[in-house]
Amino acid sequence: MAIAVLGGAGYIGSHTVKQLLNAGEDVIVLDNLITGHQQAIDSRARFYQGDIRDYHFLSQVFSQENVEGIIHFAAFSIVPESMKDPLKYFDNNTGGMITLLEAMHQFGITKIVFSSTAATYGEPTQIPIKETDPQIPTNPYGESKLAMEKIMHWADVAYGIKFIALRYFNVAGAMPDHTIGEDHHPETHLIPIILQVAAGTRDGLQIFGDDYPTKDGTNVRDYVHVVDLADAHVLALNYLRDGHASDAFNLGSATGFSNLEILEAARRVTGQAIPATIGPRRAGDPSTLIAASDKAKSVLGWQPKFDNIDQILETAWNWHQTHPQGYGDRA
Ligand code: UFG
Repeated sequence: MAIAVLGGAGYIGSHTVKQLLNAGEDVIVLDNLITGHQQAIDSRARFYQGDIRDYHFLSQVFSQENVEGIIHFAAFSIVPESMKDPLKYFDNNTGGMITLLEAMHQFGITKIVFSSTAATYGEPTQIPIKETDPQIPTNPYGESKLAMEKIMHWADVAYGIKFIALRYFNVAGAMPDHTIGEDHHPETHLIPIILQVAAGTRDGLQIFGDDYPTKDGTNVRDYVHVVDLADAHVLALNYLRDGHASDAFNLGSATGFSNLEILEAARRVTGQAIPATIGPRRAGDPSTLIAASDKAKSVLGWQPKFDNIDQILETAWNWHQTHPQGYGDRA
């Protein structure tokens, strides 16, 4: 039976497709290629181009393939964009989930591993953030994903569709063989922007705010390597196969780096000066996000292999140097 990876042409999806294939899974990829890249899809996977909001598309694929479980990455994920265009997020992310669950119910597919986010917590009440902490998002992106978690809960109660929500903190890095990596248009994430400046493909970096209540005034984030994150999806799938109940897990490193510390680490790893200025705060940014990820380790058996920021930056830098224009398929 096949595992259907929705959004498998995207950054995290494409890394997970490879890790699933390497674990011996039969994989199909569904992606509308709005933000994904066809070149990112491993050639061992069967690819179907279409949109998860399109019930007809989903039912065609699910009729043709014998799908055992879903891994769902197909969502918009840019915090500042969601502040400007919240309905785009509720339509694609939350609306897409409803259509997907309807199709899963119709076709008797009862397992889903879901890309959730630290953004569902909003401004944390304690650090590190535990899975049981209050979820009060500060932006529509986080709100759209929290709604998806809640919808899955009720689909489990009513239809027995089991889910694992993986709440990612800040994902970075690339496949160490640099065959796939991060390529967003526009790019809004800190690490790829810093590395584009280092590589000379982007002019300058602005750090958004230095008046937060943190060690140096800049936001603090918890970075996790994309391959470690991908491995967690394989573990979560097997956890559902073992018959466990629906659950949620944080995926982070339990370590926080300020934006200025990331800049310093990138200067060290790349050997480049990387000029930067301080700008105003960016709307919707929580001050500090650090995960408690012991639950994923103890329950899923997750063991991150890239456990320091230099390794994360080195693999990302390798990708940027070998792919200065990313996949080269966008203007
Ligand atoms: N930042 C800058 N300058 C930039 C870009 C980003 O200073 O040019 C700052 C941001 O203000 C923030 C930090 O770098 O303080 C990280 O920003 P990112 O945009 O890289 O990532 P976010 O923390 O906003 O969001 C990411 C994912 C979300 C996820 C969240 C969870 O994009 O999907 O991590 O921690 F929900």
